[in-house]
Amino acid sequence: MAKPLSKAVIPAAGLGTRFLPATKAMPKEMLPVVDKPAIQYVVEEAVDAGLSDVLVVTGRNKTAIDNHFDRVYELESTLEQKGKGEMLRVVNESTALADMHYVRQGDPLGLGHAVLRARMHVGNEPFAVLLGDDIIDARDELLKRMLEVTEAKGATVIALMEVDPSMTHLYGVASVEATDEDDVVKVTGLVEKPEQGSQPSNLAVIGRYVLQPEVFDILEKTPPGKGGEIQLTDALLTLADDDSIAGGVYGVVFRGRRYDTGDKLDYIKAIVQLATDRSDLGPDLRPWLKDFVAGL
Ligand code: UTP
Repeated sequence: MAKPLSKAVIPAAGLGTRFLPATKAMPKEMLPVVDKPAIQYVVEEAVDAGLSDVLVVTGRNKTAIDNHFDRVYELESTLEQKGKGEMLRVVNESTALADMHYVRQGDPLGLGHAVLRARMHVGNEPFAVLLGDDIIDARDELLKRMLEVTEAKGATVIALMEVDPSMTHLYGVASVEATDEDDVVKVTGLVEKPEQGSQPSNLAVIGRYVLQPEVFDILEKTPPGKGGEIQLTDALLTLADDDSIAGGVYGVVFRGRRYDTGDKLDYIKAIVQLATDRSDLGPDLRPWLKDFVAGL
């Protein structure tokens, strides 16, 4: 039996230009969503799916991420002395979460290039990639389902989500064939940010992938594509074109809640949605929100 998958890679080295100036001195993955940085939700999701070996691919300003998952002795002892046990627990939560590793990307040459930086750490086994600014609501299962499909098919599995046709030009978009499972499709083609009207479907690629190690050799040979960046989509297309390389590419169609915190509007929606659902904030926030909306 194959060894269960245990490694997750979180690319977090992008420039975050859509969020300037907030991201001038801080990675966008550290922007707080209610009271936790976006990347903590992503690490929690990986751990929840059984992947406790987490490699973060960092860029400039990497220390903020590194520090967040490390111990802060002065803060811990101050909280302890003041008897603030609950706060101490919250602070320690991110420290004990996973077995964290870091690698630098150097220049942000694209998502494909960031994934390639994980090669030494991952070695010759399948692994998951979770984009550090993409939050999947913990109440809606995605990664666990993708791992199940990977195990069953021995293939690459990507996450797809139906989006409005007016939005497809912002995503990688898949051409697909149905399988005998309602939420699983066979991916026959992929196009990165297609021009409006030329998209092969409304199924957009979202930030979760389970990749076979063969992807590294392909990425090594992948020339810069759209935007001068080494695109993961181009490597996935090579894998989708030839099932003999690593079993082809399947898509799990996700119908749950997802928040793209790298986009300003989605970031605001994420905070409002997650906060209204929280037992400590929701009861005060919901009536205020209703009044506010009524006054618009
Ligand atoms: P994005 O395209 O959303 O990131 O990449 P970006 O380039 O930082 O965003 P904008 O458009 O300038 O605002 C998706 C994910 O891939 C990572 C990003 O950190 C993000 O999690 N990424 C992207 C890298 O790690 N390295 C890269 O070279 C590019």
